[in-house]
Amino acid sequence: MRVAVFASGSGTNLQALLDACRDGDATIAIVLSNRADARALTRATAAGVPVHVISDANDGTEINDVLASYGIDLVVLAGYLKLIPPDVVRAFEGRMINIHPALLPSFGGPGMYGKNVHRAVLESGATVSGVTIHIVTEEYDRGPIVAQWPVPVIAEDTPETLQHRVQAVEHALLPAVVVAAAKSGCVVRLVPDRVGFAVSAQTTPVERALRAVPLLVSQEE
Ligand code: GRF
Repeated sequence: MRVAVFASGSGTNLQALLDACRDGDATIAIVLSNRADARALTRATAAGVPVHVISDANDGTEINDVLASYGIDLVVLAGYLKLIPPDVVRAFEGRMINIHPALLPSFGGPGMYGKNVHRAVLESGATVSGVTIHIVTEEYDRGPIVAQWPVPVIAEDTPETLQHRVQAVEHALLPAVVVAAAKSGCVVRLVPDRVGFAVSAQTTPVERALRAVPLLVSQEE
């Protein structure tokens, strides 16, 4: 399965994908960004993956042409801060996923990106946040959910500490979804068979717990 990744920023999720997809069923074939200085592009180049800087993020023809020229099967939005033009969404219906750093449908929609999300979670008093991966539709953050994983919020959290804990889960869940899609030939829903994290400010135990829990692949929906 040939995968295109869109990223606007640091690209830590891209890095997790690059690391997971070495010699596997999924190939990261191209990385696209609206920003020429995105760290994500440096990561792609270091991994030997071609990059494309989008000249006009509203121009669906440019993006569709690039995706077609690389024979892309699956598009992954990993921290891409521009809206994908509707003709690109239509061309990749059911084959474009986005990762969001909270449990959608809560804390999604316009303006909900980066630390804004974690700040809103803390201000709401929620005791659980998490990661959502969903199919991209023309409605922002509203497409069918492919995978979710909870992350505990603790009393001492700042947006930064919560972001850190959520990111550790993102870096395991996104590759799991992409690898499962590559093995299945289509995007499949991942369902955890057990949920239960010790509440901890540490990243590592959460990440270890996630890696230790097998994800069951379900094709219903
Ligand atoms: C992640 O938190 C992702 O959920 C959101 O944007 C952030 C990208 O981070 N959509 P990075 O660039 O992968 O480090």
